[in-house]
Parts: sequence; C-alpha cells; structure tokens
Amino acid sequence: MERHLALELVRITEAAALDAARWTGRGDKNSADEAATIAMRSRFNSVTMDGTVVIGEGEMDEAPMLYIGEKLGNHRGSKIDIAVDPLEGTETVANGLNNAISVIAAAPQGSLLHAPDIYMQKLAVGPALAGKLSLDDPIETTLDKASGILNKPLSEMTVSILDRERHSVLIAALRKAGVRIKLLSHGDVMGAVEAAMEKEVDLYVGSGGAPEGVLAAAALKCLGGEMQGRLLPDGMEEYSRCIRMGHRQPDQLLKMEQLIGHGNVMFVATGVTPGDFLQGVHYLPKHKAETHSVIMHSQNRTISYLTTTHHYPEQYDTLTGAAI
Ligand code: FBP
Repeated sequence: MERHLALELVRITEAAALDAARWTGRGDKNSADEAATIAMRSRFNSVTMDGTVVIGEGEMDEAPMLYIGEKLGNHRGSKIDIAVDPLEGTETVANGLNNAISVIAAAPQGSLLHAPDIYMQKLAVGPALAGKLSLDDPIETTLDKASGILNKPLSEMTVSILDRERHSVLIAALRKAGVRIKLLSHGDVMGAVEAAMEKEVDLYVGSGGAPEGVLAAAALKCLGGEMQGRLLPDGMEEYSRCIRMGHRQPDQLLKMEQLIGHGNVMFVATGVTPGDFLQGVHYLPKHKAETHSVIMHSQNRTISYLTTTHHYPEQYDTLTGAAI
C-alpha cells in the first residue's frame, strides 16, 4: 500500500470528523453518525484503490452506506480491505463528552477479520507485553505476569476497561488485585490504543464491539502492541451470524494474525471531540476549523500526527458545512 493512500484516507476521516462534530452535545447520536457516514462515503470514490468494506456500518440490508462488501475507491490500484467507523463514540458526541473519533484501517485484501457486530472479549497491551500474556488466563494471572514483566508493583499498574454492568465481576477482581482502574465511558478503540502507547495505561481488558476490536488491532500492530480477542455471541441468532460470516468456531481465541493478517496495515483517525490522545475539532473564527489526526503504518512502525486547517465558504450551513 502506498504512503499517499494514508493521506487520502486521513482527508476522509477529517471530513467525517468535521461533519460529526457539529452534532456535539445535541443529544442526537443517529444524526451525528449519519453526518459522519455521508461525509466519509462521499469522499471514498475518488481514492485510488480497489477497496472492499470488511468492517462497516452493518450488513447490506441494514446499512445504506459503507455496508460490509461495498466496493470503495476508483477500482484502480491495490486490492485492499477497508475497516471504517465513521463515528466511534456516537453517544459521546450526542452527550458532548470526550474521546470520539472517526477512524479507518486498511490492509491487503483478505487480511482483516470479518467481525460481526457483536461483543468481543479483548486484551490489549503495548510492545513490552506483546506475545507474553494470554486471554485464556484468569485476570489475576495476567496481572501477576504483567507486573513481573514490567517490573512494576500491582499498585502502580493501570488497567482500562469500559464502565459497564457486565464488567462488575472483572472490575471487582481488578480492585482486589490493587491496580488502578481507568473506567472508560465509551470508545474502546482508543482505550486499547492507549494501552499500547505504554504511558499511563498498562492493559486494556473487558468486552467491547468486535468491529472496534479489529480497528484497534490495526493500530496496535503499527505500535508494536498486541490485541487478543474472542467473539462473544449472545444467543443463537448471533451464533448463526458468526457462522454465516465464516467463523466456524466462534469461541476461538483470535490473535493478531486472525484479526489483521500478516501484511502491512495502515490506521488513520481524526478526533471529533477532545480526547486523551487526539484533540477534537476546533471551530475557529473567520470560517475556519482545525482537525487533529494520527496516521500509523505497520511497515516501518511510523506514527505521524497531522494538524489541518480547513476553510469554509463565507456563508455556510452551520450543521452541514455546505455553502449557502
Ligand atoms: P458507538 O460508536 O457505536 O456508539 O460505539 C462506542 C463503543 O463505546 C465502542 O467503542 C465499544 O466497542 C462499544 O461501544 C461498547 O458497546 P456498549 O456501549 O454496548 O458496551
């Protein structure tokens, strides 16, 4: 995959972020998601690639755009798998909270896991712990191993996890072990990425969306970290969906090779609302806006940050950004 493709993709997440951010704090997550999806979809056609949506807004009969299997790009250039989340953190934007992003991952055709929109159990770590832990271990064992490898007492370790009722037992075990817990309200792509940055957070655990697990795995590969996952189908309908999507053993432990394959991976994201890792969209005086993005490549493990100033027409619709 060419380096310029990353720049084309980041223009797309910027556009989606700009349109989604206008819905910040308006209590309307569907409109925020729709604005991001339309902005993202409309910019994909001009991109030089032969892309197929592997992770998108849903299956063909449930999503009008960016559905699984949809072809993207101008059908020239490399054949690639595309994973998108035009707005990761729909409720976050609706409620005016932090850490919403727009995100795309790309990899050679056939690389990305076809993840159904169900929960996935996850363990995400940075380079120091990559390949050294197992999702199959009880959490106490995982913490002890991590503490030994990082040479850090449990009391100095921080574990992040989505703040959900379904995690009450896991959170109680983390409390008992004495680690610090960073409770995330939403947004476990960046939750997992933060663990791989090896700054404040040592591990990301718990369950979140399976599509978000694949997106995070792409970023973690670029960062030298690791994601392990396991699909968690709830009931026969979700189990059958897993089988239909090619997962003959839905409870299989998924490692990096199953999540994102062996080839080069690219991950781009733009902040929508302010985050721990990326600033949100800033609307500036004089019809301007500023976006903050990250571009990651697994090939050389390069992580680049991009700040872009966007100019609007003198007269524009404040909800769509379109000239009037
Ligand atoms: P949306 O953008 O679809 O709202 O997802 C936000 C998110 O927090 C994801 O990051 C996470 O994987 C998933 O929701 C967790 O789902 P739930 O809120 O049901 O626990």
